[in-house]
Amino acid sequence: MIAAAADALLRRLGVHLYEVVDDSPVVAPTIGQAEPAQVGRPRTAAETVRPRTFDEYIGQADAKARLQTVIQAACLRGEQLRHILVSAPHGLGKTTLARLIADEYGAPLVETTGGQLMKSGALAETLMGLPDGAVLFIDEIHGVGLKGQSEVAEQFYAALDSFVLQGMRDGQPVSIPLPSFTCIGATTAAGRMDRAFVSRFLLVELTDYEREDMVQMVEAMAAKLDGLTLPASAAGAIADRSRMNPRQAEQILAFARDAVTVRGTVELRDVFQRLGLGELGLRRRELTVLGHLQQVGGPVGAAALANMAGVTKTEYEDSVEPWLERAGLIIRTPRGRLITRRGVAQTTTS
Ligand SMILES: Nc1ncnc2c1ncn2[C@@H]1O[C@H](COP(=O)(O)OP(=O)(O)O)[C@@H](O)[C@H]1O
Ligand SMILES: [Mg+2]
Repeated sequence: MIAAAADALLRRLGVHLYEVVDDSPVVAPTIGQAEPAQVGRPRTAAETVRPRTFDEYIGQADAKARLQTVIQAACLRGEQLRHILVSAPHGLGKTTLARLIADEYGAPLVETTGGQLMKSGALAETLMGLPDGAVLFIDEIHGVGLKGQSEVAEQFYAALDSFVLQGMRDGQPVSIPLPSFTCIGATTAAGRMDRAFVSRFLLVELTDYEREDMVQMVEAMAAKLDGLTLPASAAGAIADRSRMNPRQAEQILAFARDAVTVRGTVELRDVFQRLGLGELGLRRRELTVLGHLQQVGGPVGAAALANMAGVTKTEYEDSVEPWLERAGLIIRTPRGRLITRRGVAQTTTS
């Protein structure tokens, strides 16, 4: 009761608080609901908030509709589901979607990464170890499918196309039959992948989230995090600082809940400040890029900007630049990146 009255007062004063769920003695909240299959420690916030069904997966209506059709059709015909490539920048929901596909299709899921498969013998070992009819999820699949990495790619093509493993035995080429499987690849770099590679998959490109999707997502995530209650306007404020990126929204919420666990209540603006997030949710590396562009006052190439931000050029292009461009803070020209007036405003306010 006292907590509710205090909250009402603070809200009237415009102070936003996170709070523990009720006014019983403050105890460390348990993380997520314990599920029967769960052993060991409770899951992390990221695992707790991850959608478990297609219905919980917010937005991406086109991708969901297409996927549900191909999954249903494969199930109705009793066929192996075709290979699927999910393309999107970091944190937009590729891994989540891949797991939902496997779940909906009802097949065992084996997870690996493109980098892992590039190790000698790893592809053969992984493919031969697959349970029959499995879904093989390959994160960062561009590790295998980038232009010019043909040796592993060739072996992979045969496996994808005809479920055989090609190799050499006693100097002779051999084809070893494999169990049938569905490959789901996730990539942040579809544009740099070999066309022959991409064409073997149903390509699903995730789209940018609208603000209302993000608000809904923040509310759904917060509802799953025990011990975290958001005041009414908080979901919008968090969405605005998420750069419309579900992973960043999840990280803000996870930190807010950690702060609540430790301190009982916490102010929203304190959370943003501690995470170094300004109004547009820009992080240090993005601000560094804007600062540098402003200083130079002319076009700068991606490599130089990546260097300034302390990331690789690929990382810069895949996960720093897209939001800067979408938010209208920079523009890309043939001669390099330019800061916009809106971008300059960010460097002075943050
Ligand atoms: N469409 C969505 N609806 C709800 N939550 C989402 C959605 N997309 C992503 N998330 C959440 O955002 C976080 C990042 O998603 P993830 O699938 O790991 O992204 P990616 O694999 O593309 O980097 C996860 O915590 C996930 O639960
Ligand atoms: Mg992922």
